[in-house]
Amino acid sequence: MKIWKTSITLLILANVVQAASYVPITTDNTCLLLKVNDKNRLEQTYYGAKISNVDELSMVDQQQFTAYSTFGTTHVFEAALRAIHADGNTSTELGFLSSSTESLSENVTQTVIKLKDEHYDLYVDIYYKAYQKEDILEQWVEIRNGQKKSIRLTNFASSDLSFNASEYYVSHFHGDWSNEMNISEQQLTEGIKIIDSKLGVRSTQFTHPSFILSLNQPAAENDGEIIGGTLAWPGNFQFAFEVDNMDKLRVLSGANPYASEYTLEKNETLKTPSLLFSYSNEGTGKMTRNFHRWARKYGIKNGDKERAVLLNNWEATYFDFDEPKLTKIIDDAAKMGFELFLLDDGWFGNKYPRNSDNAGLGDWETNKKKLPNGIPYLINECHKRNIKFGIWVEPEMVNPKSELYEKHPDWVIAQPYRERVEQRNQLNLDLSNPEVQEFVFNVVDKILRENPGIDYVKWDANRYVFNSGSSFLPADKQSHLFFDYSKHLMQIMNKISRKYPDVTFMACSGGGGRIDYGSMQYFDEYWISDNNDPIQRIFTQWGSQYFFPTIGLASHVSASPNHISGRTTPLKYRFDIAMAAKLGMDLQPSQMTEKEYKFSQQAIQLYKEIRNTVLMGDLYRILSPYKHNRTVYMYVNDAKSEAVVFNFLVRKEVYPKPPTIVLQGLDPDKKYRLKEINKDPDDWSRFTKYEGKILSGDYLMTVGLHFTMYNEYESLVIQLNEVN
Ligand code: GLA
Repeated sequence: MKIWKTSITLLILANVVQAASYVPITTDNTCLLLKVNDKNRLEQTYYGAKISNVDELSMVDQQQFTAYSTFGTTHVFEAALRAIHADGNTSTELGFLSSSTESLSENVTQTVIKLKDEHYDLYVDIYYKAYQKEDILEQWVEIRNGQKKSIRLTNFASSDLSFNASEYYVSHFHGDWSNEMNISEQQLTEGIKIIDSKLGVRSTQFTHPSFILSLNQPAAENDGEIIGGTLAWPGNFQFAFEVDNMDKLRVLSGANPYASEYTLEKNETLKTPSLLFSYSNEGTGKMTRNFHRWARKYGIKNGDKERAVLLNNWEATYFDFDEPKLTKIIDDAAKMGFELFLLDDGWFGNKYPRNSDNAGLGDWETNKKKLPNGIPYLINECHKRNIKFGIWVEPEMVNPKSELYEKHPDWVIAQPYRERVEQRNQLNLDLSNPEVQEFVFNVVDKILRENPGIDYVKWDANRYVFNSGSSFLPADKQSHLFFDYSKHLMQIMNKISRKYPDVTFMACSGGGGRIDYGSMQYFDEYWISDNNDPIQRIFTQWGSQYFFPTIGLASHVSASPNHISGRTTPLKYRFDIAMAAKLGMDLQPSQMTEKEYKFSQQAIQLYKEIRNTVLMGDLYRILSPYKHNRTVYMYVNDAKSEAVVFNFLVRKEVYPKPPTIVLQGLDPDKKYRLKEINKDPDDWSRFTKYEGKILSGDYLMTVGLHFTMYNEYESLVIQLNEVN
């Protein structure tokens, strides 16, 4: 990577208050302006659209927000940092030391602002990475104890952003297993709203570490000031939104301080997770496209590489399989057009065979009865049919009924004197313990080393943390467990990902329990929910896509009636929603009728033709499933030469009132041919009046399309191709 050093320099602006100096953090369209005030303390004076003359921003002086607030002196609101010094002093006051900026590449600059307590040797370095083209800022903080004795941190936020607007609205994501990522918006009133997770592991299942803040009005798709933030951390997180007596808003983001006091020994540094955030004055649509573009380049592993269409045996067989059954599925998968076969849970354990979720977890030896010829046999069966092979692991967990637990009962997270509480018959391994860290790394490493030819790994984690105690951590550091678990987990993921850059990894955690940019830099794909019901998927995919890119969003066609919801839906509808993301299937082709088989084969073929645009195109949301009976969204490729528009009827219309579908993101000067794709050959088309027509981008984005859809579970996909 090319690195230029522009050793900085504070920007000393003209017309500024005496002695004040400024540090602007800019991207192509945004600016975060920090100021060192006349008391040598750091303030945030502005965050918003960039103006052509950044110097003039020195006039925005009425705000005077602390850029990283501390407890114990004059700050009477929630503080980003609270440290208890060795002598018992509970206050911190940070003074400015220096600032420097360097270019990490043509697109990325990094600024470090160094602060120090005005009395104690406590150092706080604030890092900002600015991704120019994508308008994304990344902020984290490094806190170092330079004192002779240890200090205790009770609060250690990653970021402390402030805003001054007439009204504030926050949208966030919530749910539970099989019902993840529902979006809800509230207006903030005086006081504090906290959005957090205390689940420890599988931590994004109830709430997600992302927020959308809208200034002055509720969030809109194409207008208004929006700040989107997401914390890159697989563990407990907290966002605290505090509206103060002056109606100003402070947003603290970081690892959850809840039950997590952290002791820093002499010269020890705590590095907080990164907050990734983006400002848009064109609504949530632009914000999403900023994150997707950033993620494909920086946030997700191999974000620019094509993804394989896969068949997963989980819902097809659950634990009930053997070699002949899998070989048949592999054969069918290859014939149907799949590019990868993923072997799910149930392939391991001998003393305690993994025939259900109550035994064997932790014993990563191939089950000899089910698979007498081992994993290499299955790899070979795949490779000789020219498809790839993937495998499921859950390396951080253990069933008490396992050889691993018999050998190392002290390796699990537990509190003495408390009832041991299992979830899905399993316990968490204690990742604060270096021996356990080594074990977890080795689980994945050994499987990949001993079975060359594995192309894909689904890494699962199926429980939360209860009884959060560690037999490894000393008594006075028990509260490090939550933070250390996530820190070490990320280190292990990093080590694996570096060692196996070409193996595709999927982040799964009992559905969508681990969707965060801390993990995603080491994963190519993510599993948003165990619920494959297409109606449910419309909502879960809609929510997930605000911050996370389509290229990683795995979506599978599964059985009807659906195993979780019991709902019966047409195969086309199930395919269309899965094809709106990264297509896969959880069905046995041999159990399909001839008609279904043929339809599936054609749909897979068609998907291969459009996947580039779907996975790597820009997403434009047209109609929300929360507000309309029909939901519509579209993807447009970079060259604006192809677009794919997905329409789903979410609620049946008794008397249809078709909405006008005004498209977005096209080139107004280009002409496009319209075609309905993935049609059910036996059904009549709602799209005949447009079929094969050539219309300009201008028409499509001004007048739009108008056609009815009213039957239960109707969907319609339109492909637009540029015509020269
Ligand atoms: C979790 C995952 C599923 C499947 C099962 C296997 O629930 O989310 O996709 O892999 O585990 O036990």
